[in-house]
Amino acid sequence: MEALNERTVQDYLRRKGLSPLLGEGAWQAEPITEGNVNLLFRVKNPATGRSVVVKQALPYAWRYPDFKMPTDRLKVEYAVLKVAGEHAPEQVPKVHFFDENDAVIVMEDLARHREMRAALREGVRFPRAAEHLGRYMARTLFYTSDLYLPSGEKKAWAAELVNPVLRKVQEDLVFTQPYKPHPNNRYSRPLEPIVQEIYADDALRAEVHELKERYMTQAQALIHNDLHTGSILASEDETKVVDPEFAFFGPMGHDLGTYLGNLALAYAAYEAHAPNEEEKRAFRAWLLESFEETWRVFEREFLSAWERDANPEEWYSDRYRERYLKRLLKDAAGFGAAEMFRRLIGMAHVSDFWSIEDEAERAAAESLGLDIARRWIRSWRGLETIEELAGLVREGRVLL
Ligand SMILES: Nc1ncnc2c1ncn2[C@@H]1O[C@H](COP(=O)(O)OP(=O)(O)OP(=O)(O)O)[C@@H](O)[C@H]1O
Ligand SMILES: [Mg+2]
Repeated sequence: MEALNERTVQDYLRRKGLSPLLGEGAWQAEPITEGNVNLLFRVKNPATGRSVVVKQALPYAWRYPDFKMPTDRLKVEYAVLKVAGEHAPEQVPKVHFFDENDAVIVMEDLARHREMRAALREGVRFPRAAEHLGRYMARTLFYTSDLYLPSGEKKAWAAELVNPVLRKVQEDLVFTQPYKPHPNNRYSRPLEPIVQEIYADDALRAEVHELKERYMTQAQALIHNDLHTGSILASEDETKVVDPEFAFFGPMGHDLGTYLGNLALAYAAYEAHAPNEEEKRAFRAWLLESFEETWRVFEREFLSAWERDANPEEWYSDRYRERYLKRLLKDAAGFGAAEMFRRLIGMAHVSDFWSIEDEAERAAAESLGLDIARRWIRSWRGLETIEELAGLVREGRVLL
């Protein structure tokens, strides 16, 4: 199918019999241009006040047409939205329509929410994010794991959602490029000596390779695989996860670590965004409370799903259950560190930092992010509690 535009997207909805979603009348369509990869439109009917969001995958990233990506990534996205819609319906947009041939999803418009990353930069608190995201991760990960799914069903599903091209992007950008000189890497100039230390640190690279191996080989559950604060739309009382096009059957700790790592990045960036010292302390205290609470909710919800719905014939060791959760915490710390390195040194930077115009100020905040990431990567295997992991954030130092 051709790329949709503001006009044809309206014809498309009518042709597919979706007019009842909006009601009859003169609709208005506008592109949403925040993302880099897919075409998104908001189509509204001013007469009824109803609106939907239409997401279309092209065989390339719309902003970078040389960057080829198969359109079946939208089938992956749909599969995740569907399973999350069953187990954590409040944490994802409702899907109204999916067409595999056209690579189009029509979904609930979340215009009432803000991108969490942008809001955190301004010091906005989300009092329910920990509860919602802890539950989202517990449910989506548990119910797509071998703890719950029949063995054959999970294997069939994993074979269907291989997603090799998008996975390779993450393998390269998260686990390969940021730890050696690479043409894709970018970083603020004052960070040069710290980045050179990282490039030369083989102990650090060994840990990252360990995580990369898990990432490439451990088909533990259907993970979102890009669960950063830019994929979360939230308000005071609702939290929604979007954009699971990178999903595949991988290690659960990657979702946990990506989210927690991005909270740590928000903590580091607040070095520059805080309006004053008092607010810096207060906001960071809230961030770390939410950080710890996310894990506690995750653990509680995961264990209760295990008790309720794991197959007791297959998984009957209590000690193993405890060990499983401990291992997830360690993995989260390791994957969280890799996420921070890649956002500070690799190709895909985040607005938490690039919005800081003054280079010296930006690099100072980034050096704190790198210091936290190094503390996490040195300690991930030995971590026992979420409080210890939060403690490593608190111990982080501005290095410039
Ligand atoms: N259901 C929705 N309702 C309202 N806004 C949305 C919705 N889905 C996405 N958006 C907005 O569009 C932006 C891009 O969406 P999304 O991340 O799904 O697209 P993408 O092209 O895959 O982006 P990326 O480059 O981040 O991969 C989001 O950051 C958000 O601002
Ligand atoms: Mg995307």
